[in-house]
Amino acid sequence: MTTKLFRNARIVTPQDPGAPLRGADQGKVREIEGGALLCRHGLVDRVGEEAEVREAAKGTEIHEEVDLGGRCVIPGFVDPHTHLCFAARREEEFRLRLEGTPYLEILRRGGGILSSVRSVRSASDEELFETTLGNAMSALEHGTTTVEVKSGYGLDTETELRMLRVIDRLRRETPLDVAATFMGGHAVAEDYRDRPDQFVDLLCGEMIPAVAEQGIARFCDVFCEEGVFSVDQSRRILLAARAAGLELKIHADEVHDLGGAGLAAELGTVSAEHLLAASEPNLEAMAEAGVIAALLPATAYSLRKPYAPGRRMVELGVPVALATDCNPGSCFCESMPFVFGLGVMHMGFSLEEALVASTLNAAYAIGLGHRVGSLDPGKSADFLVLDGSTPAILAYHAGVNPVAEVYKRAEWVA
Ligand code: NIG
Ligand code: FE
Repeated sequence: MTTKLFRNARIVTPQDPGAPLRGADQGKVREIEGGALLCRHGLVDRVGEEAEVREAAKGTEIHEEVDLGGRCVIPGFVDPHTHLCFAARREEEFRLRLEGTPYLEILRRGGGILSSVRSVRSASDEELFETTLGNAMSALEHGTTTVEVKSGYGLDTETELRMLRVIDRLRRETPLDVAATFMGGHAVAEDYRDRPDQFVDLLCGEMIPAVAEQGIARFCDVFCEEGVFSVDQSRRILLAARAAGLELKIHADEVHDLGGAGLAAELGTVSAEHLLAASEPNLEAMAEAGVIAALLPATAYSLRKPYAPGRRMVELGVPVALATDCNPGSCFCESMPFVFGLGVMHMGFSLEEALVASTLNAAYAIGLGHRVGSLDPGKSADFLVLDGSTPAILAYHAGVNPVAEVYKRAEWVA
């Protein structure tokens, strides 16, 4: 482990106050012209103007100096919501959706998530890992240095655990920091189609205890949606998960306003995701409870739905995070720059608000705010060198990868 000085950068980063940023602070960032970053043992040691950092580093041996050519440096993206562990793509289904078949109708006919369940169940561990690794490496090249990955294409105890082991392997074998989420409540398994409450019993009585016992997931998530899990069923699942020691997330009000955002506030989940159809009183309740909204604009893009009211959420004081939702169905996108661009162009976020949403607040949405998400001393030295002089490049240079270099723990990784 060495001491490195990264210099000649225009550094733009949130400063972590120990909690997600919200309301008027949602877009609060620090900008340093002629900035430098001193990293020790893979952690940020000092950040500031170069002269200042050098002065503070006096007497310390610097093993390597890297000139970043005046380009913009931001913290590595944290993608707090993905389903990138899957075995097969669903390109045909995308075509069906373009031709007018609704997303939930495809699921009702036994396709959608259930089609991914069939392909995951029949894939070997190695095949599942290879596809997952490919998705994760592409995310890394687009600047994601920390990622959350959900299970949920197994829907039986054995396959859910198998997915979580593959997700754990991703953590061990790649430079990415990975947060694992158990999502056995992603859809009702086909054999339980006519007895969904018994599937909820299976989730609460068998799957959740097995996952908790193995200690391979930090969070539990559930798809609270018409025709999937009701608010009552979602509450049962989440309470069982909490009792087993898991932290909570919820796919809420993605297509219909079922009240998932209200349930998130009632239970004080760490985050509530999607929220395209969430009602204003429930968003107010989320603000009150401090639940982070994890918004997924690339899903709205892919489902051709109106974008979630991100600007309004900021006004209401809900802390907002951005994520890809990368999955083979509703949103095959692992690019945080694309999500950043949609957030700015279609949700009314300023560049600074989108930056906070995709770094610091995203880190808090997966319980890692103390370690990643900003370039503060003591945090992991995860940062991106952009092919531009400000974060505007992320929305401005559309349809390409504006991330020139990716550093994880002060090492060049892409
Ligand atoms: O967040 N909505 C539920 N889950 C995913 C989609 C999963 C899939 O279609 O495979 C989502 O959009
Ligand atoms: Fe999702």
